[in-house]
Amino acid sequence: MSYNLLKGKRGIIFGALNESSIAWKVAEMAAAEGATFTLTNAPLAMRMGEINKLAESTGSTIIPADATSVEELENLFSESVKVLGGKIDFVLHSIGMSPNIRKSKNYGELNYDFFLKTLDISALSFHKVMHVAEKQDAMAEYGSIVALSYIAAQRNYPDYTDMSQAKAALESIARSYGARFAKLKKVRVNTISQSPTKTTAGAGIAGFDVFYEFANKMSPLGNATAEDCANYCIAMFSDFTRMVTMQNLMHDGGFSSSGITEEIIESMKK
Ligand SMILES: NC(=O)c1ccc[n+]([C@@H]2O[C@H](COP(=O)([O-])OP(=O)(O)OC[C@H]3O[C@@H](n4cnc5c(N)ncnc54)[C@H](O)[C@@H]3O)[C@@H](O)[C@H]2O)c1
Repeated sequence: MSYNLLKGKRGIIFGALNESSIAWKVAEMAAAEGATFTLTNAPLAMRMGEINKLAESTGSTIIPADATSVEELENLFSESVKVLGGKIDFVLHSIGMSPNIRKSKNYGELNYDFFLKTLDISALSFHKVMHVAEKQDAMAEYGSIVALSYIAAQRNYPDYTDMSQAKAALESIARSYGARFAKLKKVRVNTISQSPTKTTAGAGIAGFDVFYEFANKMSPLGNATAEDCANYCIAMFSDFTRMVTMQNLMHDGGFSSSGITEEIIESMKK
């Protein structure tokens, strides 16, 4: 059902790789809610070509940008303002990648060049996005910027390795830039900490199926899906959340407040 929550709003959506991407669902829902936006991803990811389908179905323009490159982000923002015909009301940062996880390096054997790459792609890129938006004065007043995070920022998940540090930095950047952007333009900045979700990035983590099932049993409402996450993002982009900023918002079916659940007790008895 559509409520026209984003009628007349302009956005930039990072990170739609394929139909299972969280950003893909956000784009579909943002279009259904009346927004216009540009889609962006790293040029390498675009070679797979799937994003063209999404651009067609949502009537959006694709502007490639490696989110670690300030120059490419500058082009993305200036082109987006041109194509969309005005300042940007919402930005979704839905980007994560760890070369250490890709190469199955355990925590004691991390490659430090890879570690820096993880931090650059998955955390510093968020700062770069906001830095460029600020310098170009590209954000509209009361605009909303959201990045996606994971509870490994606060708790240890052995196979999440250096992505845990990246998410901790990402959430911290949301607080620091949130304070700055609130004063500058009343722009709000938040992270949404999402349940494990079956996507390309999710499935790349060793033991994903196990901690997906564990989280599902530990969450009184069950795991939040990509569609649920998209709904939350839309709410955060809408005018109904204008005073929410500098927060890490748990979107996890109650996982983060659960000590133990009946389902876990039952499974341990077996
Ligand atoms: N899947 C999960 O279990 C889960 C849980 C919590 C949070 N998240 C977060 O949600 C976000 C989206 O991930 P997803 O699960 O939809 O997976 P996904 O693989 O569909 O999306 C990750 C995206 O990051 C993009 N990316 C990688 N390097 C980039 C770069 N240099 N420049 C620009 N884009 C780049 C990829 O091309 C891809 O589109 C990530 O931040 C992820 O950490 C995922």
